[in-house]
Amino acid sequence: MNHKKDLYVLGIETSCDETAAAIVKNGTDIVTNVVASQIESHKRFGGVVPEIASRHHVEQMTIVLEEAFSQAGMSFDDIDAIAVTEGPGLVGALLIGVNAAKALSFARNIPLVGVHHIAGHIYANRLVQEIRFPALALVVSGGHTELVYMKEHGSFEVIGETLDDAAGEAYDKVARTMGLPYPGGPHIDKLAHQGEANVPLPRAWLEEGSYNFSFSGLKSAVINTLHNASQKGETISPEDLSASFQESVIDVLVTKTERAAKAYGVKQVLLAGGVAANKGLRTALEETFSAYPDIELLIPPLSLCTDNAAMIAAAGTVAFEKGIRGKYDMNGQPGLELTSF
Ligand code: KG4
Ligand code: ZN
Repeated sequence: MNHKKDLYVLGIETSCDETAAAIVKNGTDIVTNVVASQIESHKRFGGVVPEIASRHHVEQMTIVLEEAFSQAGMSFDDIDAIAVTEGPGLVGALLIGVNAAKALSFARNIPLVGVHHIAGHIYANRLVQEIRFPALALVVSGGHTELVYMKEHGSFEVIGETLDDAAGEAYDKVARTMGLPYPGGPHIDKLAHQGEANVPLPRAWLEEGSYNFSFSGLKSAVINTLHNASQKGETISPEDLSASFQESVIDVLVTKTERAAKAYGVKQVLLAGGVAANKGLRTALEETFSAYPDIELLIPPLSLCTDNAAMIAAAGTVAFEKGIRGKYDMNGQPGLELTSF
C-alpha cells in the first residue's frame, strides 16, 4: 500500500493590492484561501498607490495568516513548506509577504519556496483540475499578457508577450478615460454586454506568425475617439464603445491562443490572471475551443483568477517537490523573469 504522506503548503501573496494566505493540500486541494482586498482604499486614486498597498499589507498580513489557520483548524506543525510570491510586483508590497514568509520559516524551521506570480496564476488551474501536458496558458492580468507553453510541470516557455500595455492595464486606462471606477475591467465588461461593437477600432496583429501582443494603440484609439467626439459636441455610447474595445481585445487574444494551441499541439489551454474574469473572453474561448475535441479548455472560477495565495501554494508545491528551496536572503524582486523550476 502507498502511504505517501499528504503535503500541506502555506501560500502567501502580497505582490499588488491583495493580502492573501492559503493552505493547499498536495498542490491540488484548497484547505483554506483567505484574501483581504484593498481595492476600496485605492479606488479614489484611480489605481494602486504603492505606499498605501505596503501599509495595508503590514496591517493585514498577520490577520490573514491567523484567519487561514483558524479556518483550517491547523497549526504551523502541520505545514510542510511556505510558498511566497517573490516577484514580479510592487517591491514594497512583495517585501511584506517575503519577510513574513522568511520569519515564519526561520521561527518554525519550515522550508521556504519563492514563487513567480505568473506561475501562481497558471497553477490556479490545478486547483480545478489536473493539468495535462503539453499545455498552453493564456495569462491576462493587470500587469501581464503572455502565452506560456508548458511541456511538463514547472516548465515555462513564454512564446508571446505584450510589447507595451497588459490587457488589464488597457482595460483600466480606457475605463479611467471613460470616467469609470477603478479597476475598470469589470465595468467595461458589463457595459460591453449592453452595447453594439459598432465603433471602428484597430487590432494589433503584429508581424506574421507572432504570438506577441500590443494594446497601447488600441487604448490610444479609444481615447482619441472620445476626444474627437467631445470636440465635435457629439457623444458616444459608453456601451457601444465598451463593446467595440472588448471585441478588439478578445479577437486578438483568442485568435493568437487558438493559433498557438494548434501549432504546439497542446492537450489543454489554461486561462489565468484577473482578466480571465471577463465574461466576453470566457465565452469566446469556450466557443472557439468547442471546435477542438482534443483540446480541453480550463477556466478557473473568478475567485481563483484574481490574486490569491492558493495559486501561490499550488505552484510552490510543485517547486518544493522538485527540490527548490528559498534562502533567508530572499528579496522581493519587482522584475523577476518567469523561469522553469
Ligand atoms: O491578476 P490580477 O488580479 O492582478 C494582477 O496580477 O495584475 O488582475 C487585475 C486586472 C485588472 O486590470 C482588472 O481590471 C482586470 O484584471 N479585470 C478584468 C475583469 N475583472 C478584472 N478585466 C476585464 N474584464 C473583467 N471582468
Ligand atoms: Zn495577478
